[in-house]
Amino acid sequence: MADKRTGARRLRSQDWFDNPDHVDMTALYLERFMNYGITPEELRSGKPVIGIAQSGSDLTPCNRHHLELAMRVRDGIRDAGGIPIEFPTHPIFENCKRPTAALDRNLAYLGLVEVLYGYPLDGVVLTTGCDKTTPSALMAASTVDIPAIVLSGGPMLDGWHEGDLVGSGTVLWRSRRKFAAGEIDAAEFVDAVMDSAPSVGHCNTMGTASTMNALAEALGMSLTGCAAIPAAYRERGQIAYRTGRRAVELVLEDLKPSDVLTRAAFLNAIRVNSAIGGSTNAQPHLMAMAKHAGVELRPEDWQEHGYDIPLLADVQPAGRFLGERFHRAGGVPAIMRELLDAGRLDGGCRTVTGRTMAENLEGRHVTDREVIRPFDQPLKERAGFLVLKGNLFDFAIMKTSVISEEFRTRYLNEPDRQGVFEGRAVVFDGSEDYHRRINDPALEIDERSILVIRGAGPLGWPGSAEVVNMQPPDHLLKRGITSLPTIGDGRQSGTADSPSILNASPESAAGGGLAWLRTGDRIRIDLNEGRCDMLVDEAEIARRKADGIPPVPADATPWQRLYRQTVTQLSDGAVIEGAADFRGIAKTPPRH
Ligand code: FES
Ligand code: MG
Repeated sequence: MADKRTGARRLRSQDWFDNPDHVDMTALYLERFMNYGITPEELRSGKPVIGIAQSGSDLTPCNRHHLELAMRVRDGIRDAGGIPIEFPTHPIFENCKRPTAALDRNLAYLGLVEVLYGYPLDGVVLTTGCDKTTPSALMAASTVDIPAIVLSGGPMLDGWHEGDLVGSGTVLWRSRRKFAAGEIDAAEFVDAVMDSAPSVGHCNTMGTASTMNALAEALGMSLTGCAAIPAAYRERGQIAYRTGRRAVELVLEDLKPSDVLTRAAFLNAIRVNSAIGGSTNAQPHLMAMAKHAGVELRPEDWQEHGYDIPLLADVQPAGRFLGERFHRAGGVPAIMRELLDAGRLDGGCRTVTGRTMAENLEGRHVTDREVIRPFDQPLKERAGFLVLKGNLFDFAIMKTSVISEEFRTRYLNEPDRQGVFEGRAVVFDGSEDYHRRINDPALEIDERSILVIRGAGPLGWPGSAEVVNMQPPDHLLKRGITSLPTIGDGRQSGTADSPSILNASPESAAGGGLAWLRTGDRIRIDLNEGRCDMLVDEAEIARRKADGIPPVPADATPWQRLYRQTVTQLSDGAVIEGAADFRGIAKTPPRH
């Protein structure tokens, strides 16, 4: 916007605070801000007004230290000549929100869009941490398209239990198996899990939180090195200050999310996700962010650009270490530098630093080769997601970096198989059904069984639940069989080490192939061809369709109804249908 009188560039906030055409409204907008001591001179000075989208609260413990980090952000904004205005976002706490935090991502997105669009903000610092807090914020920043910068909260310190490193989530999955096998009691179970959370911060494994913050950095939306700094380290406060400063400069430079979030940036993020052994939740979240950024990202891009990238980070759940060691080894910039030097990263992408990614990575390198491997001596070759399709779904993914040697030998490497596996389906309708029946001998589950869960997608759950990483029945666990092949239209926790076939789209509740599968059917998984099919003939499938789609729970809240009316499938990011049409709305100021 240009000033009518002087022709100079006017800030968005001046339309509220310094608008000669609307003196009455200007007076009204200004007066109530005074009541906490801010002065009209400040708000009318033409200085950038920078929002701090505060995601921390008592209900979002993973992000709660942002309440303190925001003080350093404010200092940075003031020192760079801006005015900070902090406001809360809708809380999202991954571990506690029922029926799933995934239901809230689009709600937090909607809320943030309204705030960024409808209030006098020139730029915004997005405070991120717990899983969905990162994609919801970046989705909103793209829709509104005002200058925005991510401040990650950082992971918790490394957890230790009886001399062993215990990571968020990974200890839970391991303890569950030990508990079911009778190796530990309930008190030991709870103790081990408590010990995995020794400080403020988000999950310290490469779960969805660490992954999404790493990808925000890989996309170019945070300062270099921001994602991996542990929440409790002094560098976290320092980068909060620098992020605040930079937010003001972004407004002065008019550098917006649309300048940074290009297709090349998203492909970089896909590659980084493979190299860090990132969460399977990166698939729907990155897809959602791309949609809102107006970038065409295809489901197959995961395989075409990500699959042959090796695993470089030895971090749980794909590896051994946790957030502190990852940070000390160089964190995300060290990973990106490895990819760049191997010619597998687009270094020309513009970033919020004002420089290109390659420029950001100058002087960055791996400082601990035990934790971050060289590109040509990785932990695993070809560690990205496999994309599968067949008559059970049009799209699903499998995280290859967590396939254990034991699983590989049992299912994939036998001479007669080589990546092809056939088994008998055991089908569960939602997780209650799974918990009720998994140990039922009548199901005759053995190591040739494939566990299937449906009704767990965006429409079915609703929200799409992290339930596909189903544990085998106790009798198999006691024999040391810790994982079976699993398939589902839900997701799995980013901290899970299960080689599930997940995010199946379309889901059962939308009439996808899983709806017509029955216990006892044969399923054929061919990883070489990227196919997964039920060996049931067309006529029989047609007969089963007469039974209708397996029922799912009714809407329990108004938002659940609205969510179901608007949500797309996981292959498409489970976004609000049509929301992407609103990209760039800050260009025109809202009416008074
Ligand atoms: Fe919040 Fe993992 S539960 S980051
Ligand atoms: Mg999760």
